[in-house]
Amino acid sequence: MKEFMIRDIKFGDFEDLIDTYYSYYAEIKENPELGITLFRKMPSLGSEVDWFRDLYKEKLNGNRIAVVAEADGKVIGICEIARNRPGSEVDHIGRLGIAIRREYRSKGAGKMLMEEALRQSKGKFEQIILEVFEGNTAAIKLYEKMGFREYGSLKNAIKRSGKYIGHKLMYLEMGKAKE
Ligand SMILES: CC(C)(COP(=O)(O)OP(=O)(O)OC[C@H]1O[C@@H](n2cnc3c(N)ncnc32)[C@H](O)[C@@H]1OP(=O)(O)O)[C@@H](O)C(=O)NCCC(=O)NCCS
Repeated sequence: MKEFMIRDIKFGDFEDLIDTYYSYYAEIKENPELGITLFRKMPSLGSEVDWFRDLYKEKLNGNRIAVVAEADGKVIGICEIARNRPGSEVDHIGRLGIAIRREYRSKGAGKMLMEEALRQSKGKFEQIILEVFEGNTAAIKLYEKMGFREYGSLKNAIKRSGKYIGHKLMYLEMGKAKE
């Protein structure tokens, strides 16, 4: 088993996270099944700075959980849970996203990241929801292991290079949150 360090995101993780994110744009050329929704064009570094600033701000505001996995001295994956429309009547729900760099998959990091993100979600979110590509067996198995259940699906949710992929919708009950 590979050694991973699981910890909260730090301000200094920006470069590693962007490098990892950009690696998915390289990967998709060889792996068209990649289970992450990407932009049609690779976002500029400037828009990535905006993404990171928002993520960090929302974490400080208590509206985001962001846990990273480190291996070989760099960040190679992230699991985020974002509060649904903060300040609204649906803000007891968190939306989960997770991705690990290709070379580090299927070595236990995904499970460790999710365990930590879900641990931090207790008392914060009452339900966690996510969308997963219907053929993404590794992700679906991981989510089921963590207790997620399917509540629906959406055909043709993704349009990638002219081909359609369906989404499976999943949820996890977390119990009451602190007011
Ligand atoms: C989905 C993802 C986060 C899982 O993380 P991971 O580190 O690869 O998974 P882990 O090694 O922790 O394995 C956790 C469980 O997932 C399942 N799994 C992992 N890799 C698998 C594979 N190649 N085939 C089938 N199941 C697999 C297994 O059930 C495994 O549990 P087990 O080891 O007890 O059998 C990761 O593969 C990834 O980043 N994929 C690309 C991005 C993506 O699809 N993100 C999800 C968007 S919804």
